[in-house]
Parts: sequence; structure tokens; C-alpha cells
Amino acid sequence: MECPPDRLPLVRHWGSDLGPLDEEAARAVCLIGERSGRLSGELDARPPSLVPEAWTGWTGRPGLVGSRNGRDWSPRFSGVSVRIGGTEAPSYTEAGAAGLEVAADDAEGLLRLTLTVEMLASGLLRVRAGLVNGGGTYDLQELSVALPVPTHAAELIDFSGRWGMERQAQRLEFAVGAHVRENRRGRTGLDSAYLLHATEPGSDFVGGETWAVHVAWSGNHRHVAEHDSTGIRLLSGGEHLLPGELRLAEGEGYTGPWVYASYGDGLDRVAHRFHSHLRSRPGHVSPRRPVTLNTWEAVYFDHDEKRLLELARLAAEVGVERFVLDDGWFGGRRHSRAGLGDWTVSPDAWPHGLQPLVNAVLEHGMEFGLWVEPEMVNLDSDLARAHPEWITAARSELPVEQRNQHVLDLSLPDCYEAVRRQLLAILDEYPISFLKWDHNRDHVEAGVRPRGGVPGVHARTAAAYRLLAEVRAAHPGLEIESCAAGGGRVDLGILEHTDRVWVSDVSDPLERQRLLRWTGQLLPTELMGSHIASPRSHTTSRTHDLSFRGATALFGHLGVEWDLGATTPEDRAELAAWITLYKEYRELIHTGTLWRGPDPGEGIWSQGVVAGDGTKGLYSLTSLTWCPTGAPPSARLRGLDAHRRYRVRPLTVGSPAAGFSAPAWWDEQGVVVPGSALARVGLPVPVMHPEQTVLVLAERVD
Ligand code: DGJ
Repeated sequence: MECPPDRLPLVRHWGSDLGPLDEEAARAVCLIGERSGRLSGELDARPPSLVPEAWTGWTGRPGLVGSRNGRDWSPRFSGVSVRIGGTEAPSYTEAGAAGLEVAADDAEGLLRLTLTVEMLASGLLRVRAGLVNGGGTYDLQELSVALPVPTHAAELIDFSGRWGMERQAQRLEFAVGAHVRENRRGRTGLDSAYLLHATEPGSDFVGGETWAVHVAWSGNHRHVAEHDSTGIRLLSGGEHLLPGELRLAEGEGYTGPWVYASYGDGLDRVAHRFHSHLRSRPGHVSPRRPVTLNTWEAVYFDHDEKRLLELARLAAEVGVERFVLDDGWFGGRRHSRAGLGDWTVSPDAWPHGLQPLVNAVLEHGMEFGLWVEPEMVNLDSDLARAHPEWITAARSELPVEQRNQHVLDLSLPDCYEAVRRQLLAILDEYPISFLKWDHNRDHVEAGVRPRGGVPGVHARTAAAYRLLAEVRAAHPGLEIESCAAGGGRVDLGILEHTDRVWVSDVSDPLERQRLLRWTGQLLPTELMGSHIASPRSHTTSRTHDLSFRGATALFGHLGVEWDLGATTPEDRAELAAWITLYKEYRELIHTGTLWRGPDPGEGIWSQGVVAGDGTKGLYSLTSLTWCPTGAPPSARLRGLDAHRRYRVRPLTVGSPAAGFSAPAWWDEQGVVVPGSALARVGLPVPVMHPEQTVLVLAERVD
């Protein structure tokens, strides 16, 4: 970074390590980062800073947008002070992992901008901007931070999606113009951009220089890739503010969300920095993640005590360690049209309260978990009847419904208090170790009713974070899952308060292969809820063998989403074997490094997790479609030590993959192969039918 006193800091390079730079070399890097020259007719412009401003000649999207009734709209920050670790920075510093605090003033515009720039031990960069208003009311519309990427980052990769199909990767040319991913859903979104990458053409998991940004915010937000006609390319991000949402009175301030940035040669190395950052969080989950059974696809709203007691018994029998009671236990919640907002146990569904079930779960040696959706309300609820003004709306009519529900305004202190009290009461009454915290609708036209419908997504997002933090503080050890109609709230903001995400409502393993693969671009395996569901998928109607369902779910936090009451003893024996296998390898899966690809061929995927010390790796080889060539190609196993030898053997649970034909090395003894050969020559993928997976274990022998 270059931090001149008279303008905001510029990032001159981020990405590959340039080696140690003395002051002279650092100055040279800054110099070659200047423009190469200009054509006649062009502005006398300088490269944009972390918060791009028009006065530098930047005609692209400004970092700060706002005004005082049309005045003070073009900021020029100077008088920049820089502090590192609390003390004023010397003129030249090579800091490594460190934090930089920047403050700058626009004396004419009466604004103060603050920037916090941190290089974390994981190698992630994160930047946060703040603004303090020193004059009359300032209408803040946008405060984003931008990072430059080089011209060879000529392609973009980000994500889209919908219910059941979250995080579908899309790849496009980084052409002149702005690729703007603006979210106005009030939650991260099933279609969230998730991570916006700029990359060398042809990059994949294995290689190709790649830069990525991610906005750690669960409310409205924006990711932008911008390429101007002079060749400048920026990746930027920030909160998306609605009209009039943040009107700062004199002396008031705003702090934007962290914008994270990662770099790597290949998508895997971009992901590794996020994984190691998340794993370094204080209180990060234990790698001995408890195998979970969630009741949703087993019983839906049919909460019958006898049936659920039997489900708990069968769950314990197959090795489940945490039993989670999903939607349907409270208020008038016999269906999705009623009850949200009334967080007391329903005497209709549970005439003896939850105690008999909770006791049985604990007696079986399992933990008890419960589903809640505290930010939402059904009109058919006591809460909505008593406090219609707590339902968000921008106009006199209520917003369009989604799943028969509306958004509660937790930014209103009384509403927040009522929800908080109910949640804490249920947590005090029962020994609950886990909350599945759902959020099933978008915040559309979600104004603050008692204030005439002004937008309130920012305040509500902050209130939701506060509620999560308060609940956790009151119940240390409580784990919380972030769920939003599946994986609609997956971001690093919510992950400051939660312990895993529900990746998707789709547990069909064919879909899950892709969902886990791409959700893994941000999250390590232990944070991705990954359940084995019934043979016939409730969402896609496809039918799959347990071997494919089990081997797919294994690469996440394993659970069960299946009505065990409708299974045969043989099904349960095979399921128990998968659970045993998970328990044996979960520490490897949840601490190891994830390597995806190279995919051996069209429709054949390989991935693995390798222990940090390189002693072992667990791989899956998956056939998604028929292999177009007669003999399937070889899978090159990544992440192992090229200078050591490994015994490679199959891990088989229950019946083998359909159409399976064993290659020469496929037996219990396996074969000892140098790591270099596994990486370069590869293992021949066994012949198998489509929608099948086999597992391979590599253990170091020398
Ligand atoms: C949506 C979630 O994604 C499901 O798993 C389930 O919890 C339902 N909500 C319950 O209403």
C-alpha cells in the first residue's frame, strides 16, 4: 500500500509474494503502478484509491456516494494519518500480517473517513470503511471499498442460484463496464454472488492467478467488478443502502461491513485462506462434529410424540449424536400458515411439553437441538395480532408474502425484547445444545412501520446479529446453524455468530456434489451441514443408492434427514456403517486441506482432504455421468507429499457402487505408490455407473 499524506491509500499490489521489499524497491513498485501515459483527450487521472474519488480523475463508480441536499457530494480526503498497531506509522514499513488504521478528512465537505486494513495470518486481506459526519445531515447512499486487479485477470467467476440450487458458478468475460451484483433481499440470498473472483482465463481449482472479494454482511449488499476504458480493473464491495436509509446527523457515523479479499494460484488456494481464517476463529467448532439427525424430511409438521420418540430411538441406534426437532413444535404451527412469532411449545402438538422427547434424547446419549425462525411472523399468530406495527412494510399495504410469512422488525426495541425474551425462556426451560436458526423470506418493501415505512434493513441486520450474540452469550456452548430456506444466509458476517450453515434444502447427492464443492469455496467442510436423506429425494424425486448418498455427505458435517421409521433393518445397518466411517475420519475431514480436482474427465470429479502433516488423505472419485471414453481416466491426487510413499486402498461401506469393476490395485492391501506418482500419473478411476462415488484412502508408509 502507498499512503500519501494528501490522498487516500492506494493498494499497489496484492497477490503473489514479491519477496522482501526495501524502501527503494517498494517505491519502484508504486511507480510502475502509475499509468503508463495518456492519449490526447484523456483525463489527467491517477489510479483510484481504496475508496475511489472523482477528484483523482476516476469516472467509474465512486466509493462514497452521498450529499447534503445535493451539496458536498464529491469528497476529497486528505490530511491522512496512518497508524499500525495503535502507533503512528513510520514513512516506510514492511509489516506482514498487521492492521492499519487510516483516518482522513474532507475539510470542505465536513466528513471524516476511516479505513481499517488488515492482513490476517491466513493471508486474507480485509478492509472496512467508516464515515463520520461533521456537518449538517448527510444522506449516505454508498460506502464501498475497491481493490485493483491486474489486466491479466480477464475473467470473472461468481455465483447465482435459487431455492435448492444455491451457489451455481457462472463465468464471464471481465469486459469494459461494471458487473454489479446488487442484493436487495435483506438476507444474503439464495442467488448471492457469494464470492466475486477475477481470474486468469482458463483458471480452475488447480491453477491460474485468482483474486476474490466477499462482503461479510447478511443484509443488502453489493459486489462489483468494474473495468474502465483506460484498462483499470477493480473488485469492490460494500453494503447496499436503500433511499434515505442512513441519514447521518451531525456527529453521527457509519461503519460498513468487512470486505474480505483472497488471492491464490487456482481457486483452491483462494478457498484455503478463507478456511484457515474461519478455523482460526476463537471458539471454532470441534472437529469431532456430532452426527446430527434433523426431523424435517422425516415428519415435516406432523409432530406426534410417539413417532418422534421412535425416531429418536432409531437415531441413537444408528449412531446419531444430536437430535434436532425442526419446524412445527410451537404456537399454532401445524402448517406454514400460522404460528411464527409465538415461541412457546404448542399444547396441541406436545400435550406433555417437549420434556418427554428431550429426556428420551438425552437418555439415548444424544444432544437436543431445536428449530427457530425468530426474525419472522405469520399474520395468523398471537404476536401479529397484538403488534401489527412490528411487521415491516414500506406502504400502508403489507409486502407480498413469501411462504405465508412476513419480516418482524427487530430494530424496534419492544419487538426485539419480546422475541429475545421468548427465545431465552425456551433455552432456559430445556437443555438445548443447538439451534437451527431459519430465515425463510426476503425483506421486500420492508420499511419500519412506526416510522412511516422508512427503510430499515441495515438496522434489522445489526439487530439480528445482536440477538444471535446475546443468545450465545447467555448460553455458552450453544451451537447455532444459519439456515435460510436452505443456504440463503451464508456469509462471513453471519459466521461471526453461527457454527455451521444448512447448505441447501436439496439433499439429492447429485446436486449436493456441486453444492458442497462450491460452498466450499468459502467454507471448510465442518461448517457445511451435509445430511444423508431418503433414497428418493424429496426435492428432485431422483433415487440414489446409499453408497452415493453417504460418500457425498461425508465431506461435510454429517447428518441424517430421513424417516428412519420407514427404513428396513438393512438400510439402518448400512447407514450405521456410514456414520461409523464418518466418526473414524471426521477429524481428518474437518481439519484437513480440501483439494478439488483436477477432474479426471467430463462428468468425473475427484476431491480429497489431506492432513496438515501430509500423513494421510481421503479422496472421493465420483461419476456424475457416463464416462464418454471406454476406460475412465486417471485421477491425480493432490496435496500429498511428493517425496513420500503412500499405501492407497479403497474404503468400502455396504454394497459397492453400481456397475463397479475393480481396477488392479483395488483390494484391502491396496498398493504403495510414491506421492509424486499419485500426483502426476494418478490412479485409474474404477469403472462404475453414473451417480456413484468411491472412496480412496492414502496413508503415508515412510
Ligand atoms: C427451511 C429449511 O431449509 C428446512 O430445512 C426446514 O427447516 C424448513 N425451513 C422448516 O420450515
